[in-house]
Amino acid sequence: MERTLSIIKPDGVARGLIGEVVRRFENAGLKIVAMKMVHMSKKEAEGFYAVHRGRGFYDSLTDSMSSGPCVVMILEGPGAIAQTREMMGATNPKDAAPGTIRADYAFSIEQNIVHGSDAPETAAFEIGYFFNALEICG
Ligand code: CMP
Repeated sequence: MERTLSIIKPDGVARGLIGEVVRRFENAGLKIVAMKMVHMSKKEAEGFYAVHRGRGFYDSLTDSMSSGPCVVMILEGPGAIAQTREMMGATNPKDAAPGTIRADYAFSIEQNIVHGSDAPETAAFEIGYFFNALEICG
């Protein structure tokens, strides 16, 4: 069993896509073991994306991630990290495969609806960033 952190970003929440994204993950057999809505401050968004500090898009990415509430969740299943990433599609929606969440809904690389951890180490960091042990119903 593997766990990954997924975020429905502020653009996804604002566009009423919480149910659609959750439905896709659940229909694919992923189990939601934790979930909450959070409105990150700029500092909290900067901490979450610290790995991207120094990149040209860091400031606008953290502005957009702190612009409204997100839904953060932990998804569990065999190969959950790769499965979630496949379902989201490429970071840039222009490159995302048909039928993926980003191909179907995202407008830009920055406003790309969802985030998913890209490796076991980042999943561990990202899960710990939002959830403590008592909040995870494993
Ligand atoms: P996400 O999966 O949340 O991980 C980092 C985010 O940075 C990514 O999705 C995009 O929203 C954003 N991002 C990555 N590359 C770029 C880029 N070249 N320009 C703007 N935003 C980017």
